[in-house]
Amino acid sequence: MREGQASAIYRADYQAPAWLIETVDLTFDLDPAKTRVLNKMRIRRNPGVPAQALRLDGDELNLARVMVNGGGTSFKMDGSQLVLENLPEGSDPVELEIFTTCAPAKNTKLMGLYVSEGTFFTQCEAEGFRRITYFLDRPDVMALYTVTLRANRHDYPVLLSNGNLVDAGPLDDGRHFAKWVDPHKKPCYLFALVAGQLVAREQKIKSRAGREHLLQVFVRPGDLEKTEHAMNALMHSVAWDEARFGLSLDLDRFMIVATSDFNMGAMENKGLNIFNTKYVLASQSTATDVDFANVESVVGHEYFHNWTGNRITCRDWFQLSLKEGLTVFRDQEFSMDMAGTPSARAVKRIEDVRVLRTAQFPEDAGPMAHPVRPDSYIEINNFYTVTIYEKGSEVVRMQHNLVGRDGFAQGMKLYFQRHDGQAVTCDDFVQAIADANPGSALAQHLEQFKRWYSQSGTPVVQARGQYDAAAQTYALTLSQSCAATPGQADKLPFVIPVEIGLLGQDGSALPLQLQGTDATTASQTLVLTEATQTWVFTGVAQAPVPSLLRGFSAPVVLDYDGSDAELLTQLAHDSDAFNRWEAGQRLALRYALQAVHADGAVATDILPGDFVAALRDVLRHPTLDAAYKDLVLTLPAESYMAEQLDVVDPQRIHAVRESMRQQLAEALQADWAWAFDTHSATGAYQPDPISSGRRALTGSALLMLCLAARTSGDTAWPGKAYQRFKDAGNMTDRFNALSALVHSGAELAKPALERFHALFKSEPLVIDKWFSLQASNCDRGGQVLPAVKQLMKHADFSLKNPNRARSLIFSYCSANPGAFHRTDAAGYVFWSERVLELDAINPQVAARLARALDRWSKLAEPYRTAAREAIARVAAKPDLSNDVREVVTRALG
Ligand code: ARG
Ligand code: ZN
Repeated sequence: MREGQASAIYRADYQAPAWLIETVDLTFDLDPAKTRVLNKMRIRRNPGVPAQALRLDGDELNLARVMVNGGGTSFKMDGSQLVLENLPEGSDPVELEIFTTCAPAKNTKLMGLYVSEGTFFTQCEAEGFRRITYFLDRPDVMALYTVTLRANRHDYPVLLSNGNLVDAGPLDDGRHFAKWVDPHKKPCYLFALVAGQLVAREQKIKSRAGREHLLQVFVRPGDLEKTEHAMNALMHSVAWDEARFGLSLDLDRFMIVATSDFNMGAMENKGLNIFNTKYVLASQSTATDVDFANVESVVGHEYFHNWTGNRITCRDWFQLSLKEGLTVFRDQEFSMDMAGTPSARAVKRIEDVRVLRTAQFPEDAGPMAHPVRPDSYIEINNFYTVTIYEKGSEVVRMQHNLVGRDGFAQGMKLYFQRHDGQAVTCDDFVQAIADANPGSALAQHLEQFKRWYSQSGTPVVQARGQYDAAAQTYALTLSQSCAATPGQADKLPFVIPVEIGLLGQDGSALPLQLQGTDATTASQTLVLTEATQTWVFTGVAQAPVPSLLRGFSAPVVLDYDGSDAELLTQLAHDSDAFNRWEAGQRLALRYALQAVHADGAVATDILPGDFVAALRDVLRHPTLDAAYKDLVLTLPAESYMAEQLDVVDPQRIHAVRESMRQQLAEALQADWAWAFDTHSATGAYQPDPISSGRRALTGSALLMLCLAARTSGDTAWPGKAYQRFKDAGNMTDRFNALSALVHSGAELAKPALERFHALFKSEPLVIDKWFSLQASNCDRGGQVLPAVKQLMKHADFSLKNPNRARSLIFSYCSANPGAFHRTDAAGYVFWSERVLELDAINPQVAARLARALDRWSKLAEPYRTAAREAIARVAAKPDLSNDVREVVTRALG
């Protein structure tokens, strides 16, 4: 039941609600085919707002009855809205009763109330509640909820909703009921219910303040032993938020429920978080170290939302980053604090920056570019983006760094003092941080700092240094610019904190003394606010190597033309772990781009000997952590290389990166063998950073050794990889060995894949990995697309399950550029067919896939024309969802 083409909604049009909802009393008669929902609300006119009709949102509902104050009433429909024009005047509350039905079993969009493997779940953010009942479906309407669930006792023994269970018991006809009351006011996007056959791991905890809480993780009966890690992560999250921010759990009971059908990662419904199984279930035999880390961070993320999102929520959906950017910042800090050592913190920071640069920078340079606080949207679900989440987190991180750790804690305190229980804006947040830190650089430049929320695009910071040997001074000039983005031609200067240090030619740290100041430091944050500014350092005894943007202190592109020698010095010595890694990335990128631009066939010796030797030194380094070594030895991603170019030939980039990797495999063969032998784990499996790092490094080593074996013809290493694949005691080692075989094109890949499937055929999350590995395989002669098409016919494949669709289709279209961009355009045709097919099932997931061709206009021919045609074919389809239509229209725009 589509309402024709929805038009854009603008932030500037915000109006406070004319009606408020005080209480909601919901009664559900749960039935997969036809669920009946009785919604009794007490509503009231909003005193400050001129009188208006009540317009309630609805979507795909069957309306049976509307009553006002116990009697009949007139109403009309306006599109999908239910409009009541003749409600009593005055300030007295009005009792409204609405009776509707919906069809959860037919709900393939997975928004609103749906059924997954026989269990009922809900997903209401952003606008799913209107698919459950007619309501003021907007985050600034907060109400108290009472929920009664009624269902067949045998099929649905567990009945859950938000808050506290206050009553339960049997009913006639084999049915039973449960009644839940949530003591906290909330917007409807935080409503949830779950009903089905579930079991729970339970844990009682006592908060610092002495309050007792029950923690529960609900899963399907066979999965209970895979919940220990999630429960531990939840307990750590509770303790961390108390210790770091003084925020305690405000509920007697906190529940997590896992479902295998979920559009996103997880959802922070009040007291009843609903998770994709991928971010709950973990055992050493089925989950990798990365999975374990993801479970910890997503459990943390959703838990932290209880304060940043739920207690203080968003005024409107344009403010989404208020809760998401802040909560990502909090979960990143949580993971870093859990990781412990400075080195493990740096590894986490590098991983987060890698996501930002490979996913958010392209978004910010493409047709879907939008500010952290967008000005308009057609479909809000399209704006759950890396810009809102990851760039939003960087904007919070800059505030944190500008006011310091303690200052930020004070700012958070003030934010809660001012706004607890309210629905507020991004401005309110940054105002609180600044007000708690008068005199800080943030407070001084507050209005200008807010441009990070209003201007899209990634700023470029150009750095130029000048050393004066006679005066012993070093002058550093920083200039900023930002390219035009859709709807924003000209940009004003940002406030950009640039943390810097200076290195001597031998790599030692030089003391920093700004002209006109007495203090010397090892590192200093320069705050760039003008288009161009110069800082002069005195007492600089030798021409320094500048270490700029340490720790990635701002989400910008740094343009500094350091020599190879300078970068090698940093790679060997920079005391800032981020910049040490970054020096290696810059060198690799530089050689890669030279090879991309060079004429003729791709060379086999792209990397100069001194760079290879420097990487060997890192690999063999006596004190660096294995995880860090693994990051340094990993070449920049193809998508990151592509972003540096105006015209992108994906096949050329792929060939260049493959050649560089092959060169590293062969040139460092003995070193990889040493790394593999000396880092192979012993003892019981633990997913901690140190042992995960060792597994990551041995996994990379194994792949490199199998790649080297391709040219040497030696079969020993593929044989060893197969042996490890068979004997591994954990999924990380097993999957790394399987990946080494598959990606190196070893003959043993086929039997290994068969064996892997047979071993794990009843583990859906592992079967996802099996699909994904094949779809992301290195393309040697165009074999990947036919393999993907064949896999779509596999009995285990289904487009309806988002995890499965992502594992096969997205892994191919969005994460395997070398296989996707084919000269015969078959990859694009496949993409357009899948987008359309998915759109009929689940528009939200389809719209994500639609974004795979966001950067089409940068492609070289023949890719560019073919990609454009594929997008136009999708756009030409009548009856597209708003979700996909918005993405393809912007892409063509
Ligand atoms: N708020 C959820 C989170 O923790 C994500 C929900 C996304 N929902 C959606 N329909 N896009 O990040
Ligand atoms: Zn979130």
